Amino acid sequence: MKKIGILTGGGDCPGLNAVIRAVVKKSRRYNWDVIGIKNGWKGLINGEMELLSDYSVSGILPKGGTIIGTSRTNPFNNEGDVQKVIDNIKKFGIAALVVVGGDDTLGVAKNLYEKGIPTVGIPKTIDNDLSGTDYTFGFDTAVSIATEAIDRLHTTAESHHRVIVVEVMGRHAGWIATMAGIAGGADEILIPEVPFDIEEVCKNLRKRYSRGKKFSIVAVAEGAQPKEETSEKHNNEGDGANNTNEGQLVTQTDETDAFGHVRLGGIGHYLTKELEKRMDVETRVTILGHVQRGGTPTAHDRILATRFGVAAVELIKNENFGKMVALQGNKIVPIELEEAVSKSKTVDMDLYDIAKIFFG
Ligand code: F6P
Repeated sequence: MKKIGILTGGGDCPGLNAVIRAVVKKSRRYNWDVIGIKNGWKGLINGEMELLSDYSVSGILPKGGTIIGTSRTNPFNNEGDVQKVIDNIKKFGIAALVVVGGDDTLGVAKNLYEKGIPTVGIPKTIDNDLSGTDYTFGFDTAVSIATEAIDRLHTTAESHHRVIVVEVMGRHAGWIATMAGIAGGADEILIPEVPFDIEEVCKNLRKRYSRGKKFSIVAVAEGAQPKEETSEKHNNEGDGANNTNEGQLVTQTDETDAFGHVRLGGIGHYLTKELEKRMDVETRVTILGHVQRGGTPTAHDRILATRFGVAAVELIKNENFGKMVALQGNKIVPIELEEAVSKSKTVDMDLYDIAKIFFG
């Protein structure tokens, strides 16, 4: 009998419980025990874990969040913590680790693998920014939620003849904005990959007005930035957002997390003020925030997460460590963890070109 560990790290997303269930169920087929490590890497530093039985994973498939908790903890910030992780893996008799995470969590898995710990990775994040996989699970649910929000904002924007700016998550990639913007029929989509010219945005929206369309929806990714030359330094006083020294990114605080990320958010306020000033039209902002990460996963995410979980156990069975399961086309394939975390996957410009056809 083998004992394997599973942890979920970084921001939560819909589908984590579907993965946990799949890993436990598939492992039971081999008569292996699965230890749920609490709260990401923190649980491995502190030795907080629990045995996951069939009973513990019963009924969790449609449930959002993660039953074992998560955190943004980086053991590599402290040499002592790395040693504690290695000692606890030995102490609890964990033969291999299934690490479910985005680039930060999987980056730690890669480093541990290089130190001799048998790890396999599973890609999760609503941001869809991991390389080597067509999609991460959690993304489809976030896009569905953002699309529904855009649908709803259409009717109120139209009734009041307003511009409504909807700010979505995604960190430094504009996947959620692009996909939800296309699906919801946004009149302008602003993403980090393409710095925007505020006058261009106004020009597009004015075109709609000249055609008799007296309302507009602008989808903006939290990491979108105005072109340097077109923006004034922005002060978000009163709306909880700050500019940082990082170019023109709008952030909520100047603090960074354990992986050096700033907390993005607030570009929607900036845009709203600029559009109202330049276009003389009533404008409102909706910041979707963590609504995009909560609640039940779509069928697509449940299935993808389940396939990833089963495939990860197969990798362990074959002692194929240092790999991440990835979706390529319709196949689940193993890729090097190194490849997945080496660079972030940004929006495909062919897709953005399709979105642009509908601007203005
Ligand atoms: O990476 C997922 C994500 O939701 C990003 O889109 C967002 O910038 C960030 O996490 C928010 O993090 P937190 O939950 O720590 O506020």
